[in-house]
Amino acid sequence: MNSTLLGGLTADEFLSKYWQKKPLLVRGAIPGFKGPFDRAQLLDLAQSDEMESRMVWQTDGQWELEHGPFTPKAWRRKGPWTALVSGTNLVSNEADALLREFNFIPYARLDDLMVSFATDGGGVGPHFDNYDVFLIQGMGRRRWRISAQRDLTVIDGAPLRLLKHFKPSKEWIVEPGDLLYLPPQYAHDGVAIGDCMTYSVGFRTATAQELADGFLTYLQENLCLRGRYADPNLERPRNPAEISDDMVEQVAQMLHGITWNKKTVANFLGAYLSEPKSHVFFEPPARPLAPAAFERLIRANGFRLDLKTQLLFKGHCFYLNGEPFETTSAQRAAFRDIAKNRSISANAVNPAVIDAFYDWYCSGFGHPGAFA
Ligand code: SIN
Ligand code: CO
Repeated sequence: MNSTLLGGLTADEFLSKYWQKKPLLVRGAIPGFKGPFDRAQLLDLAQSDEMESRMVWQTDGQWELEHGPFTPKAWRRKGPWTALVSGTNLVSNEADALLREFNFIPYARLDDLMVSFATDGGGVGPHFDNYDVFLIQGMGRRRWRISAQRDLTVIDGAPLRLLKHFKPSKEWIVEPGDLLYLPPQYAHDGVAIGDCMTYSVGFRTATAQELADGFLTYLQENLCLRGRYADPNLERPRNPAEISDDMVEQVAQMLHGITWNKKTVANFLGAYLSEPKSHVFFEPPARPLAPAAFERLIRANGFRLDLKTQLLFKGHCFYLNGEPFETTSAQRAAFRDIAKNRSISANAVNPAVIDAFYDWYCSGFGHPGAFA
């Protein structure tokens, strides 16, 4: 990590003093920062049906929100506007590299790099997010106002989540390369001063309900109970419409077969957190190399994960795009290396991982050639 990124704080100091606790403004966090995209490149992404994009307009004090893809007509409308594109790290090496600058936070918490372009006066209004976010100023300037207020009441019926009573307590004008960290649910409002681009590194957290829903689905998909309800000692009921105590008791016993432990939870988390979002698709190579040619290539040039691939691990078990796989001790160091660095150099490719890398390559999960 570059020492300027957190304003001279070490990652440990940042985590203990600020993470999930209080905001931090860092001037010149990324000196000379221009950002991976210019206006035209970002607006091109906002026209793609493979990207999640939104636009927000303010016309005569009224807020308007639309979801993409957009056509260029959208940016010719009058009044301040903002276009926001999520998941830019899935399509740009530079955007992915910016996201990975924050690898002092586990990848399991990392969500995406959202990028916005706004015209003078544009913004998404006073609001709060449920995620931690690092807001890095790209091109142009933005005025941030923030507030530690507890009152997070939102305006009823507004097209976007806007705070009803925003009472800012701090204000800054940020310039290219400045960074503002905000913990979850911290009220903020950023207004563009002239054309402006902002890069948001966001971190995911799930609600208890979402985790429970996901876990129950996972259990259901992985459950295999034996036996079938049986009642060889059935007695004639007083009323045939009544569910008997015996039946309830026997079913309760059968359901005791649904058990889980920390290993089940770890496997669930690995699958859940490495599962690509629903709009993400991989592109397998149209004419894959034969295994021997593939091996020659990665032994010469290394191997890298596709930008869309998510690879996490816990102990011996690795999770690749939602699927678990066990590893041998000969594979583990190389898999941990590629999980961390997203690529592996030619000299770190060992024979134990070549077959696995070939499978990943054929699924579009990785490609020959390490990053420069
Ligand atoms: C933006 O880039 O305009 C929005 C960022 C935010 O307030 O979360
Ligand atoms: Co926000």
